[in-house]
Amino acid sequence: MKKYLVIGNPIDHSLSPKLHNYWFKENNIDAVYEKKQIKESDIEELILAIRNDQIEGINVTVPFKNSVIPFLDKAEISEKTQSVNTIYKERNSLKGSDKIVGRNTDILGFRYSLEHIKYSVKGKKIFLLGAGGVTPSIIYALEEMGPSVIMLSNRTKKKAEDLKKLFPQIEIVEWGNIKDFDMIINTTSLGLKENDKLPINYDQVSPGKFFYDVIYNPKKTNFLLEAEKRGHQIENGKMMFVYQAQEAFRLFTIAPNIESGILPLINKKVLKLLEND
Ligand code: ATR
Repeated sequence: MKKYLVIGNPIDHSLSPKLHNYWFKENNIDAVYEKKQIKESDIEELILAIRNDQIEGINVTVPFKNSVIPFLDKAEISEKTQSVNTIYKERNSLKGSDKIVGRNTDILGFRYSLEHIKYSVKGKKIFLLGAGGVTPSIIYALEEMGPSVIMLSNRTKKKAEDLKKLFPQIEIVEWGNIKDFDMIINTTSLGLKENDKLPINYDQVSPGKFFYDVIYNPKKTNFLLEAEKRGHQIENGKMMFVYQAQEAFRLFTIAPNIESGILPLINKKVLKLLEND
């Protein structure tokens, strides 16, 4: 039986095993997908396990998306994001030429989540909150969609400035200062806990905006609840999560006879599966 893992710290909240195990079953693949809380010093051994065929593939979550990179044979990612969330072995017919590859499926996951609800970013003013692990992937995806401006605000200004070095087009805004926007995206971890509050005066936001939270558990963070109360469009990170997982599954199932992998179905049943927690 093939073995897959999602690694991170913490990892308890991860719904990846539920989703991937469901898809394995649906596609009659004899595999099991587990979650594992790890330390940075465990990474080398885990990559070796892929090399030795003890593990087929790994998804990576906070805070290791960057620290796994030096252990790979190649990272097929944008220089700017420096973030890997999917690791697998690329098999080559030449003996000894297999490669451990890292990819980033968050960028595509974010883009597809917007296409799913037919929201166009083109010409829009985007306001990003946070400068954490997933933020560069979101900026990268946004820049490809042609917004008029991307503003970014983070509690620790230095991290926002570091991002500006990679993405010079972004405009940095002081933490707590909300500028006029069409779409606001929470990429911070504020909202995971019930009492978490972002420094936004919701009453000062003019109507008809779009509030997007990368968090999907809880389903509606305080940020989304406050926005919903005032009639704004809201969206949580569930579809981004599902689409990044779908692309990871496709990469995991690439084989000599299935060159483009298996794209598992996203349907009502799959989405329901993620609601029960
Ligand atoms: P990651 O490992 O992905 O960077 P993280 O460290 O939990 O995840 O933080 C993600 C984001 O949440 C960061 O932008 C962080 O802001 P800082 O750079 O200032 O740490 C933000 N964040 C977490 N807790 C916060 C809080 N209490 N107030 C404001 N921002 C917070």
